[in-house]
Amino acid sequence: MADLWGGRFENGTDKGAFEFNASIRFDKRLYKEDIEGSLAHVGMLKKTGIIEDSDAEKIIEGLKSIYQDIESGNLIIDDSHEDIHSFVEAELIKRVGDPGKKLHTGRSRNDQVALDMKLYAREAVREIDRNILELQKVLFELMEANLGTYMPGFTHLQKAQPVTLAHHLGAYFEMLMRDRGRLRDLKSRMDSCPLGSGALAGTTFALDRQMTARDLHFTLGPTRNSMDSVSDRDYLLELMGALSIIMMHLSRFSEEIIIWNSNEYGFVDIDDGFSTGSSIMPQKKNPDIAELVRGKTGRVYGDLISLLTTMKGIPLAYDKDMQEDKEAAFDAIDTVSDCLKLFAGMMSTIRFNKAVMERSARRGFTNATDAADYLVEKGVPFRDAHRIIGSLVLKCEKEGKTLDELGLDEWRKESDRFESDIYDAISMEACVERRQTIGAPGMKPMREVMEYYRKYLKEPA
Ligand code: ARG
Repeated sequence: MADLWGGRFENGTDKGAFEFNASIRFDKRLYKEDIEGSLAHVGMLKKTGIIEDSDAEKIIEGLKSIYQDIESGNLIIDDSHEDIHSFVEAELIKRVGDPGKKLHTGRSRNDQVALDMKLYAREAVREIDRNILELQKVLFELMEANLGTYMPGFTHLQKAQPVTLAHHLGAYFEMLMRDRGRLRDLKSRMDSCPLGSGALAGTTFALDRQMTARDLHFTLGPTRNSMDSVSDRDYLLELMGALSIIMMHLSRFSEEIIIWNSNEYGFVDIDDGFSTGSSIMPQKKNPDIAELVRGKTGRVYGDLISLLTTMKGIPLAYDKDMQEDKEAAFDAIDTVSDCLKLFAGMMSTIRFNKAVMERSARRGFTNATDAADYLVEKGVPFRDAHRIIGSLVLKCEKEGKTLDELGLDEWRKESDRFESDIYDAISMEACVERRQTIGAPGMKPMREVMEYYRKYLKEPA
């Protein structure tokens, strides 16, 4: 147990209290960001002459060696320190002696941790964005291969109108595009540097905050209010909000894969690599990955709600409650990153049973609207056409037929406008092909949108 505040205290911290207070167990993963921030800080202390060059150089060397040793496994971050900040500082002093004690000049752990978390979150946004892009690439390939794969489109989970698999997957492609947009938005808002805000009220040293902000690549420069800087966790909440929406999308997608994989649907076969068996029922092949992605959505929502609740009653500026941001944010980031990777793996190996999907579209009267539209084109008002087709559907249901299995005489019993071209008009191909409006599943609008996606995928992230 090592404290940073020895001077003021007569007695040591209670062991239980120390452990309760400590964050090293989970913030040790911030070592890279912590050292990066310290290097920027000491570089600035040197340049401004706040500490001497020779001291600064020793500190820089010490920090770099600590980083290398942690990376190589030669230095283990043990739990005897309160947090990663005190660990690195203590290790630095151990290595370079007295000059190491000057690193914390004009800095507090409050602006230090605010910086570390921002740097970490910034990298996390990049990683999640890359993972989404990878999933989008998988979907794009599937779409290209399935522009002519017919399937039922659903509303109320009832067969509605025929679409294509490409069109259905395209809906998720769009959702993922918005997810990336949300990450881009929040990244642009969080891109200011809190380092140099001190404990809450800046510092008496003439720090060059522009310099550290620049060195750490914050495009918006230094933050404008030191009290806000050390107590702002909005960006984590925005990130977890965006992550929650990503999970909501993945969860809907998972739900569909699970339904499609059921014995009753049989639309897809999930590859062995992404399914599991049962310990008792030999016939089983379960969609566990999709189920877990759906399940973990609750956990990411929980992380968001947990930090929102933590933050709601905190007076300015820093309070220790804020340490609770870490486990929630790390958990949400890790979970979403894993889910995206596994989902992409599952989708890149999944097999679509095209014949089953197409038969399903054919058998569910998904062409009933098109049959009604046929009559409208022959001059029948839509409401009347709707009723005529409705009674034909009823007849088919009673007789266990599909519309295209009706004889022309049966059609004509309901309306003499039906001609032999009705069969072509209600084929799956025609039903999809005639849908040419922007955003519809027809080949022409789909090819146009695929071109748009192709360019989009090439844009630099
Ligand atoms: N471990 C702390 C956190 O995560 C670091 C900041 C500590 N600051 C303080 N004044 N005790 O928030």
